[in-house]
Amino acid sequence: MSLRLDQFVSQAAGLSRKQAGRAIRQQRVRVAQQLVRQAAQQVAPDSVVSLDGQPLALAGKIYLMLHKPLGVVSATQDSAQRTVIELIDHPHASSLHIAGRLDKDTSGLLLLTNDGQWSHQITAPRHHVAKTYLVTLTEPLGEAAAEQLRLGVRLQGEKQATQPAQLERLSQQQARLTIHEGKYHQVKRMFAAVGYHVCALHRERIGQWQLPEDLPSGAWRPLLNPK
Ligand code: URA
Repeated sequence: MSLRLDQFVSQAAGLSRKQAGRAIRQQRVRVAQQLVRQAAQQVAPDSVVSLDGQPLALAGKIYLMLHKPLGVVSATQDSAQRTVIELIDHPHASSLHIAGRLDKDTSGLLLLTNDGQWSHQITAPRHHVAKTYLVTLTEPLGEAAAEQLRLGVRLQGEKQATQPAQLERLSQQQARLTIHEGKYHQVKRMFAAVGYHVCALHRERIGQWQLPEDLPSGAWRPLLNPK
């Protein structure tokens, strides 16, 4: 299967499509040593393409997990704040996207990939992939509220209640919550809906992937069994 030259350059060099197109027009790109000026030219994935004389190679599919620390944003680019991508010392880090973001003040398991179909399987609401969070509250959690959270609560601004969830009380102010959907700020909003404030949030698991105990905060490793 071939692809457009600007697509090849953008993926292999970590540029936007626009930047890749500009590099081609500026005659900085060669295919099999020949100057090519058309961004739309079709090239094979194993073509010998260079940018400014440097050979480019398309990455294969990449799947990895990161132990996201607090204070880092789940974004691929941000001019003002440190992003999770900056923590990943991988030659194709800039081609990755996040399969299910975490808030800046949430820590834990983040999955990253350059495979859009795979991340869609994980994040699309109809797949109901389970996500487990360790939740710390400012006040002790009452059993009535815990039961409401299990059954479903109406989030502010939403028409439908949340889907049934699993909630285990670990101590007075700590609980383990598993949800099967991923609305914006869902966990904090679920607790807010029953009158509680989340003061710390940590994701332990997404689907079959558990954050390993020996993966330190800020570190990443390849997923061995992505499918
Ligand atoms: N729910 C939240 O409120 N925040 C997160 O980061 C993840 C789930």
